[in-house]
Amino acid sequence: MRQTTRERLDASAREILQENDRGGYTVPARGLYPFQWNWDSCLVALGWAAFDEARAWQEIETLFGAQWDDGMLPHIVFQRPDPGYFPGPEVWRTGRTPATSGITQPPVAASCVRRILERARDRPGAEAAARRLFPKLLAWQRWFHCMRDPDGSGLVAVLHPWETGMDNSPAWDEALARVDVAPDLEPYTRRDTQHVAAAERPTAAEYDRYMTLVQLYRAHHYGPEIVRQAPFRIADVATNCILLRADRDLLWLAGRLGLDDAPRAEIAGWIARTEAACAHFRDPASGLWHSYDLRVDARAPTPTHAGFLAFWAGVGGAALADRLESWLAGTRYGLASVRAEDPRFERRRYWRGPVWAIANFLIGAGLAESGFDRLADRLRKDTAELIAEHGFFEYFDPGDGSGCGGDRFSWTAAMWLAWAGRELA
Ligand code: DGY
Repeated sequence: MRQTTRERLDASAREILQENDRGGYTVPARGLYPFQWNWDSCLVALGWAAFDEARAWQEIETLFGAQWDDGMLPHIVFQRPDPGYFPGPEVWRTGRTPATSGITQPPVAASCVRRILERARDRPGAEAAARRLFPKLLAWQRWFHCMRDPDGSGLVAVLHPWETGMDNSPAWDEALARVDVAPDLEPYTRRDTQHVAAAERPTAAEYDRYMTLVQLYRAHHYGPEIVRQAPFRIADVATNCILLRADRDLLWLAGRLGLDDAPRAEIAGWIARTEAACAHFRDPASGLWHSYDLRVDARAPTPTHAGFLAFWAGVGGAALADRLESWLAGTRYGLASVRAEDPRFERRRYWRGPVWAIANFLIGAGLAESGFDRLADRLRKDTAELIAEHGFFEYFDPGDGSGCGGDRFSWTAAMWLAWAGRELA
Protein backbone atom coordinates (compact mmCIF):
# COMPACT_ATOMS: atom_id res chain seq x y z
CA MET A 1 0.00 0.00 0.00
CA ARG A 2 1.34 3.47 -0.90
CA GLN A 3 2.04 5.64 2.10
CA THR A 4 0.47 9.08 2.17
CA THR A 5 2.67 12.08 2.89
CA ARG A 6 1.21 12.23 6.33
CA GLU A 7 1.93 8.59 7.10
CA ARG A 8 5.50 9.00 5.88
CA LEU A 9 6.07 12.10 7.99
CA ASP A 10 4.35 10.58 11.02
CA ALA A 11 6.70 7.61 10.74
CA SER A 12 9.79 9.88 10.46
CA ALA A 13 8.67 11.96 13.42
CA ARG A 14 8.22 8.85 15.56
CA GLU A 15 11.61 7.60 14.42
CA ILE A 16 13.26 10.86 15.49
CA LEU A 17 11.80 10.62 18.99
CA GLN A 18 12.88 7.01 19.26
CA GLU A 19 16.35 7.84 17.98
CA ASN A 20 16.69 10.70 20.50
CA ASP A 21 15.30 8.58 23.35
CA ARG A 22 17.99 7.90 25.94
CA GLY A 23 15.79 5.70 28.13
CA GLY A 24 13.20 7.70 30.05
CA TYR A 25 14.16 11.05 28.56
CA THR A 26 14.59 12.49 25.10
CA VAL A 27 17.53 14.64 24.06
CA PRO A 28 16.49 17.68 21.96
CA ALA A 29 18.98 16.72 19.23
CA ARG A 30 21.93 14.44 18.93
CA GLY A 31 25.28 16.25 19.29
CA LEU A 32 24.08 19.80 19.85
CA TYR A 33 21.94 19.12 22.95
CA PRO A 34 22.87 15.77 24.52
CA PHE A 35 20.96 16.06 27.84
CA GLN A 36 17.40 16.57 29.06
CA TRP A 37 16.09 20.11 28.60
CA ASN A 38 13.11 21.29 30.62
CA TRP A 39 10.65 22.83 28.16
CA ASP A 40 11.87 20.66 25.30
CA SER A 41 10.94 17.54 27.28
CA CYS A 42 7.46 18.75 28.20
CA LEU A 43 6.64 19.66 24.60
CA VAL A 44 8.25 16.47 23.33
CA ALA A 45 5.92 14.54 25.65
CA LEU A 46 3.02 15.83 23.52
CA GLY A 47 4.61 14.03 20.56
CA TRP A 48 5.16 10.81 22.51
CA ALA A 49 1.52 10.95 23.64
CA ALA A 50 0.42 10.57 20.00
CA PHE A 51 1.71 6.98 19.94
CA ASP A 52 2.98 5.97 23.40
CA GLU A 53 1.20 7.59 26.31
CA ALA A 54 3.16 5.77 28.98
CA ARG A 55 6.39 7.08 27.47
CA ALA A 56 4.95 10.62 27.43
CA TRP A 57 4.27 10.51 31.17
CA GLN A 58 7.68 9.02 31.81
CA GLU A 59 9.32 11.95 30.01
CA ILE A 60 7.73 14.48 32.35
CA GLU A 61 8.19 12.38 35.46
CA THR A 62 11.89 11.87 34.72
CA LEU A 63 12.28 15.62 34.38
CA PHE A 64 10.59 16.26 37.71
CA GLY A 65 12.89 13.70 39.27
CA ALA A 66 15.51 16.45 39.13
CA GLN A 67 13.35 19.11 40.82
CA TRP A 68 15.12 21.06 43.55
CA ASP A 69 13.88 21.01 47.14
CA ASP A 70 12.71 24.61 46.87
CA GLY A 71 10.51 23.71 43.87
CA MET A 72 12.79 25.01 41.11
CA LEU A 73 12.84 22.83 38.01
CA PRO A 74 16.23 23.22 36.31
CA HIS A 75 16.59 24.02 32.65
CA ILE A 76 19.01 21.15 31.97
CA VAL A 77 19.29 17.77 33.65
CA PHE A 78 22.66 16.21 32.92
CA GLN A 79 21.37 12.67 33.14
CA ARG A 80 24.61 11.19 31.78
CA PRO A 81 28.03 12.73 31.06
CA ASP A 82 28.71 14.03 27.55
CA PRO A 83 31.86 15.96 26.74
CA GLY A 84 30.32 17.39 23.54
CA TYR A 85 28.37 20.15 25.33
CA PHE A 86 29.35 23.37 27.03
CA PRO A 87 28.59 24.50 29.75
CA GLY A 88 28.32 21.10 31.41
CA PRO A 89 27.94 20.10 35.07
CA GLU A 90 31.57 20.97 35.87
CA VAL A 91 30.71 24.59 35.11
CA TRP A 92 27.33 24.78 36.86
CA ARG A 93 28.55 22.94 39.97
CA THR A 94 25.13 22.75 41.59
CA GLY A 95 26.05 19.71 43.66
CA ARG A 96 22.86 17.90 42.72
CA THR A 97 22.26 14.27 41.78
CA PRO A 98 21.50 13.97 38.94
CA ALA A 99 23.61 17.00 38.02
CA THR A 100 21.57 19.97 36.82
CA SER A 101 21.97 23.56 35.75
CA GLY A 102 21.09 26.24 38.31
CA ILE A 103 18.43 28.19 36.39
CA THR A 104 14.98 27.34 35.07
CA GLN A 105 12.96 27.56 31.83
CA PRO A 106 9.39 28.55 30.78
CA PRO A 107 6.84 26.49 32.77
CA VAL A 108 4.96 24.65 30.03
CA ALA A 109 4.70 21.42 32.08
CA ALA A 110 1.24 21.89 33.64
CA SER A 111 -0.27 22.80 30.28
CA CYS A 112 1.29 19.74 28.65
CA VAL A 113 0.01 17.53 31.47
CA ARG A 114 -3.49 18.92 30.94
CA ARG A 115 -3.32 18.43 27.19
CA ILE A 116 -2.15 14.84 27.43
CA LEU A 117 -4.75 14.03 30.07
CA GLU A 118 -7.59 15.56 28.03
CA ARG A 119 -6.72 13.44 25.00
CA ALA A 120 -5.70 10.28 26.87
CA ARG A 121 -6.79 6.89 25.63
CA ASP A 122 -5.61 5.31 28.89
CA ARG A 123 -7.64 7.49 31.26
CA PRO A 124 -6.86 5.77 34.57
CA GLY A 125 -3.15 5.74 33.72
CA ALA A 126 -3.25 9.41 32.76
CA GLU A 127 -5.12 10.42 35.88
CA ALA A 128 -2.71 8.55 38.10
CA ALA A 129 0.28 10.22 36.44
CA ALA A 130 -1.31 13.67 36.64
CA ARG A 131 -2.09 13.09 40.31
CA ARG A 132 1.55 12.18 41.00
CA LEU A 133 2.73 15.25 39.14
CA PHE A 134 0.29 17.76 40.61
CA PRO A 135 2.21 18.61 43.82
CA LYS A 136 5.42 18.98 41.83
CA LEU A 137 3.82 21.32 39.31
CA LEU A 138 2.33 23.31 42.16
CA ALA A 139 5.71 23.57 43.90
CA TRP A 140 7.42 24.82 40.74
CA GLN A 141 4.79 27.44 39.95
CA ARG A 142 4.80 28.57 43.60
CA TRP A 143 8.58 28.89 43.36
CA PHE A 144 8.15 31.24 40.38
CA HIS A 145 5.63 33.40 42.18
CA CYS A 146 7.57 33.55 45.45
CA MET A 147 11.24 33.48 44.42
CA ARG A 148 11.00 35.38 41.18
CA ASP A 149 8.43 37.92 42.29
CA PRO A 150 9.37 38.51 45.93
CA ASP A 151 7.41 41.78 46.06
CA GLY A 152 4.23 40.26 44.68
CA SER A 153 4.09 42.59 41.67
CA GLY A 154 2.48 39.97 39.44
CA LEU A 155 5.53 39.88 37.14
CA VAL A 156 8.02 37.04 37.54
CA ALA A 157 11.64 37.72 36.65
CA VAL A 158 14.02 35.71 34.54
CA LEU A 159 17.69 36.21 35.38
CA HIS A 160 19.38 34.74 32.34
CA PRO A 161 18.50 34.72 28.62
CA TRP A 162 18.71 30.90 28.79
CA GLU A 163 15.79 30.90 31.23
CA THR A 164 13.57 32.29 28.48
CA GLY A 165 14.58 29.51 26.09
CA MET A 166 14.93 32.30 23.50
CA ASP A 167 18.61 32.86 24.18
CA ASN A 168 19.64 35.55 21.71
CA SER A 169 16.30 37.29 21.20
CA PRO A 170 16.83 40.95 20.34
CA ALA A 171 14.49 41.70 23.24
CA TRP A 172 17.52 41.11 25.52
CA ASP A 173 20.02 43.26 23.61
CA GLU A 174 19.86 46.37 25.80
CA ALA A 175 19.65 44.48 29.07
CA LEU A 176 22.49 42.17 28.12
CA ALA A 177 24.66 45.08 26.97
CA ARG A 178 24.36 46.46 30.51
CA VAL A 179 25.90 43.29 31.93
CA ASP A 180 29.62 43.94 32.32
CA VAL A 181 31.68 40.94 31.34
CA ALA A 182 33.38 39.63 34.50
CA PRO A 183 37.07 40.64 34.53
CA ASP A 184 37.81 37.19 35.96
CA LEU A 185 35.66 35.31 33.44
CA GLU A 186 37.04 31.78 33.25
CA PRO A 187 38.34 30.94 29.78
CA TYR A 188 35.98 28.61 27.94
CA THR A 189 35.48 26.87 24.61
CA ARG A 190 32.05 26.85 23.02
CA ARG A 191 30.80 23.57 21.65
CA ASP A 192 27.58 24.70 19.95
CA THR A 193 29.41 26.20 16.98
CA GLN A 194 31.11 22.87 16.38
CA HIS A 195 27.68 21.39 15.64
CA VAL A 196 25.93 24.31 13.90
CA ALA A 197 27.15 27.22 11.71
CA ALA A 198 28.26 30.17 13.85
CA ALA A 199 26.01 32.47 11.78
CA GLU A 200 22.99 30.55 13.13
CA ARG A 201 24.02 30.82 16.80
CA PRO A 202 24.55 33.57 19.42
CA THR A 203 27.60 35.83 19.07
CA ALA A 204 30.80 35.71 21.15
CA ALA A 205 29.82 38.95 22.94
CA GLU A 206 26.51 37.37 23.98
CA TYR A 207 28.23 34.20 25.15
CA ASP A 208 30.68 36.12 27.37
CA ARG A 209 27.69 37.66 29.11
CA TYR A 210 25.84 34.36 29.39
CA MET A 211 28.90 32.92 31.14
CA THR A 212 29.35 36.01 33.32
CA LEU A 213 25.82 35.50 34.63
CA VAL A 214 26.40 31.79 35.28
CA GLN A 215 29.60 32.58 37.18
CA LEU A 216 27.83 35.20 39.30
CA TYR A 217 24.84 33.04 40.22
CA ARG A 218 27.11 30.11 40.94
CA ALA A 219 29.05 32.27 43.42
CA HIS A 220 25.72 32.73 45.25
CA HIS A 221 24.89 29.02 45.01
CA TYR A 222 21.82 29.99 42.97
CA GLY A 223 20.26 31.17 46.24
CA PRO A 224 17.15 33.31 46.69
CA GLU A 225 19.18 36.56 46.93
CA ILE A 226 20.18 36.45 43.27
CA VAL A 227 16.84 37.88 42.20
CA ARG A 228 17.75 41.20 43.86
CA GLN A 229 21.37 41.22 42.71
CA ALA A 230 20.99 40.01 39.15
CA PRO A 231 22.42 42.42 36.58
CA PHE A 232 19.93 40.92 34.10
CA ARG A 233 16.35 40.94 35.42
CA ILE A 234 13.52 40.81 32.92
CA ALA A 235 9.82 40.07 33.08
CA ASP A 236 9.88 37.99 29.91
CA VAL A 237 6.52 38.24 28.19
CA ALA A 238 6.77 34.58 27.15
CA THR A 239 7.57 33.22 30.61
CA ASN A 240 4.84 35.30 32.23
CA CYS A 241 2.19 34.34 29.65
CA ILE A 242 3.23 30.68 29.86
CA LEU A 243 3.02 30.82 33.67
CA LEU A 244 -0.40 32.46 33.54
CA ARG A 245 -1.62 29.66 31.31
CA ALA A 246 0.07 27.06 33.54
CA ASP A 247 -1.69 28.49 36.60
CA ARG A 248 -5.06 28.25 34.85
CA ASP A 249 -4.25 24.67 33.84
CA LEU A 250 -3.18 23.79 37.38
CA LEU A 251 -6.52 25.01 38.66
CA TRP A 252 -8.27 22.97 35.97
CA LEU A 253 -6.27 19.88 36.99
CA ALA A 254 -7.24 20.36 40.65
CA GLY A 255 -10.90 20.28 39.59
CA ARG A 256 -10.58 17.43 37.14
CA LEU A 257 -8.65 15.25 39.59
CA GLY A 258 -10.96 16.15 42.45
CA LEU A 259 -8.10 17.41 44.62
CA ASP A 260 -10.09 18.91 47.46
CA ASP A 261 -7.04 19.99 49.39
CA ALA A 262 -5.47 21.86 46.44
CA PRO A 263 -4.81 25.51 47.33
CA ARG A 264 -7.29 26.89 44.81
CA ALA A 265 -7.49 30.34 46.35
CA GLU A 266 -3.73 30.72 46.23
CA ILE A 267 -3.61 29.73 42.55
CA ALA A 268 -6.56 31.99 41.71
CA GLY A 269 -4.66 34.80 43.45
CA TRP A 270 -1.63 34.24 41.20
CA ILE A 271 -3.85 34.33 38.13
CA ALA A 272 -5.54 37.58 39.13
CA ARG A 273 -2.21 39.22 39.95
CA THR A 274 -0.58 38.21 36.66
CA GLU A 275 -3.60 39.26 34.61
CA ALA A 276 -3.46 42.72 36.16
CA ALA A 277 0.30 43.01 35.65
CA CYS A 278 0.04 42.12 31.93
CA ALA A 279 -0.66 45.80 31.27
CA HIS A 280 3.11 46.35 31.58
CA PHE A 281 3.73 44.35 28.43
CA ARG A 282 1.48 46.25 26.03
CA ASP A 283 2.93 49.15 24.11
CA PRO A 284 -0.01 51.54 23.73
CA ALA A 285 1.44 53.10 20.57
CA SER A 286 1.83 49.90 18.52
CA GLY A 287 -0.50 47.54 20.39
CA LEU A 288 2.32 44.97 20.48
CA TRP A 289 3.37 43.14 23.64
CA HIS A 290 7.00 43.47 24.75
CA SER A 291 9.04 42.03 27.58
CA TYR A 292 9.54 44.35 30.54
CA ASP A 293 12.99 45.19 31.86
CA LEU A 294 12.71 45.22 35.65
CA ARG A 295 16.14 46.77 36.16
CA VAL A 296 15.32 49.97 34.33
CA ASP A 297 11.53 49.79 34.77
CA ALA A 298 10.73 50.04 31.07
CA ARG A 299 9.54 47.86 28.22
CA ALA A 300 12.31 46.21 26.20
CA PRO A 301 12.43 48.21 22.94
CA THR A 302 12.22 45.32 20.47
CA PRO A 303 8.98 43.33 20.23
CA THR A 304 9.25 39.68 19.18
CA HIS A 305 6.85 36.82 18.43
CA ALA A 306 6.86 36.09 22.19
CA GLY A 307 4.29 38.87 22.63
CA PHE A 308 1.73 36.78 20.75
CA LEU A 309 1.86 34.22 23.55
CA ALA A 310 -0.79 36.47 25.07
CA PHE A 311 -3.16 34.22 23.08
CA TRP A 312 -1.77 31.11 24.81
CA ALA A 313 -2.45 32.87 28.13
CA GLY A 314 -6.02 33.72 27.09
CA VAL A 315 -5.41 37.47 27.20
CA GLY A 316 -4.89 38.27 23.50
CA GLY A 317 -7.64 40.20 21.73
CA ALA A 318 -8.74 41.45 18.31
CA ALA A 319 -6.25 44.34 18.26
CA LEU A 320 -3.32 41.97 18.86
CA ALA A 321 -4.70 39.60 16.22
CA ASP A 322 -4.54 42.52 13.76
CA ARG A 323 -0.92 43.10 14.63
CA LEU A 324 -0.22 39.41 14.09
CA GLU A 325 -1.83 39.63 10.67
CA SER A 326 0.51 42.39 9.54
CA TRP A 327 3.53 40.63 11.09
CA LEU A 328 2.66 37.55 9.01
CA ALA A 329 2.45 39.63 5.84
CA GLY A 330 6.19 40.41 6.13
CA THR A 331 7.52 36.94 5.29
CA ARG A 332 6.61 33.97 3.10
CA TYR A 333 6.44 31.65 6.13
CA GLY A 334 5.14 32.57 9.57
CA LEU A 335 5.67 33.28 12.28
CA ALA A 336 9.02 35.07 12.05
CA SER A 337 10.44 35.47 15.55
CA VAL A 338 11.35 39.07 14.71
CA ARG A 339 9.43 41.33 12.33
CA ALA A 340 11.01 41.33 8.88
CA GLU A 341 11.11 45.17 8.84
CA ASP A 342 12.99 45.30 12.11
CA PRO A 343 16.65 46.34 11.66
CA ARG A 344 17.63 43.51 14.01
CA PHE A 345 15.92 40.84 11.92
CA GLU A 346 18.33 38.09 10.81
CA ARG A 347 16.52 35.36 9.00
CA ARG A 348 18.78 32.45 9.98
CA ARG A 349 20.13 33.44 13.39
CA TYR A 350 18.32 31.41 16.06
CA TRP A 351 15.77 33.64 17.86
CA ARG A 352 16.43 36.76 15.76
CA GLY A 353 14.16 35.97 12.83
CA PRO A 354 13.64 32.25 12.18
CA VAL A 355 10.31 30.43 12.52
CA TRP A 356 9.98 27.96 15.42
CA ALA A 357 7.44 25.14 15.35
CA ILE A 358 6.90 25.23 19.13
CA ALA A 359 6.18 28.95 19.17
CA ASN A 360 3.74 28.48 16.30
CA PHE A 361 2.02 25.72 18.27
CA LEU A 362 1.69 27.69 21.51
CA ILE A 363 0.44 30.79 19.73
CA GLY A 364 -1.70 28.80 17.27
CA ALA A 365 -3.39 26.74 19.99
CA GLY A 366 -4.11 29.94 21.91
CA LEU A 367 -5.54 31.62 18.81
CA ALA A 368 -7.84 28.67 18.13
CA GLU A 369 -9.10 28.71 21.71
CA SER A 370 -9.78 32.45 21.44
CA GLY A 371 -11.78 32.01 18.23
CA PHE A 372 -9.17 33.33 15.77
CA ASP A 373 -9.46 30.22 13.63
CA ARG A 374 -8.11 31.61 10.39
CA LEU A 375 -4.89 32.83 11.98
CA ALA A 376 -4.54 29.60 13.94
CA ASP A 377 -4.90 27.71 10.70
CA ARG A 378 -2.31 29.82 8.95
CA LEU A 379 0.29 29.06 11.64
CA ARG A 380 -0.49 25.38 11.50
CA LYS A 381 -0.36 25.22 7.71
CA ASP A 382 2.93 27.09 7.55
CA THR A 383 4.46 24.79 10.15
CA ALA A 384 3.22 21.69 8.32
CA GLU A 385 4.58 22.97 5.01
CA LEU A 386 7.97 23.87 6.45
CA ILE A 387 8.36 20.40 7.94
CA ALA A 388 6.97 18.55 4.92
CA GLU A 389 9.18 20.42 2.46
CA HIS A 390 12.36 20.92 4.46
CA GLY A 391 12.53 18.42 7.31
CA PHE A 392 12.42 18.35 11.10
CA PHE A 393 14.82 21.21 11.72
CA GLU A 394 15.33 23.18 14.90
CA TYR A 395 14.13 26.37 13.17
CA PHE A 396 13.42 27.66 9.68
CA ASP A 397 14.28 30.61 7.47
CA PRO A 398 11.00 32.55 7.16
CA GLY A 399 11.96 33.67 3.63
CA ASP A 400 12.73 30.48 1.71
CA GLY A 401 11.73 27.97 4.39
CA SER A 402 15.10 26.24 4.52
CA GLY A 403 16.02 24.48 7.76
CA CYS A 404 18.53 25.93 10.24
CA GLY A 405 20.23 24.89 13.47
CA GLY A 406 20.02 21.22 14.46
CA ASP A 407 18.44 18.55 12.25
CA ARG A 408 16.14 15.70 13.34
CA PHE A 409 15.04 17.86 16.21
CA SER A 410 12.81 16.30 18.86
CA TRP A 411 10.39 19.10 19.55
CA THR A 412 9.86 19.80 15.87
CA ALA A 413 8.99 16.11 15.41
CA ALA A 414 6.69 16.31 18.43
CA MET A 415 4.91 19.37 17.07
CA TRP A 416 4.28 17.48 13.87
CA LEU A 417 2.77 14.51 15.71
CA ALA A 418 0.75 16.54 18.19
CA TRP A 419 -0.44 19.39 16.03
CA ALA A 420 0.96 20.49 12.67
CA GLY A 421 0.70 17.09 10.97
CA ARG A 422 -3.02 16.89 11.62
CA GLU A 423 -3.33 19.41 8.77
CA LEU A 424 -2.57 16.97 5.96
CA ALA A 425 -5.16 14.37 7.03
C1 DGY B 1 22.44 26.41 24.73
O1 DGY B 1 23.39 25.83 25.20
O2 DGY B 1 22.49 27.04 23.68
C2 DGY B 1 21.15 26.34 25.38
O3 DGY B 1 20.18 27.09 24.74
C3 DGY B 1 21.25 26.73 26.82
O4 DGY B 1 20.21 26.13 27.42
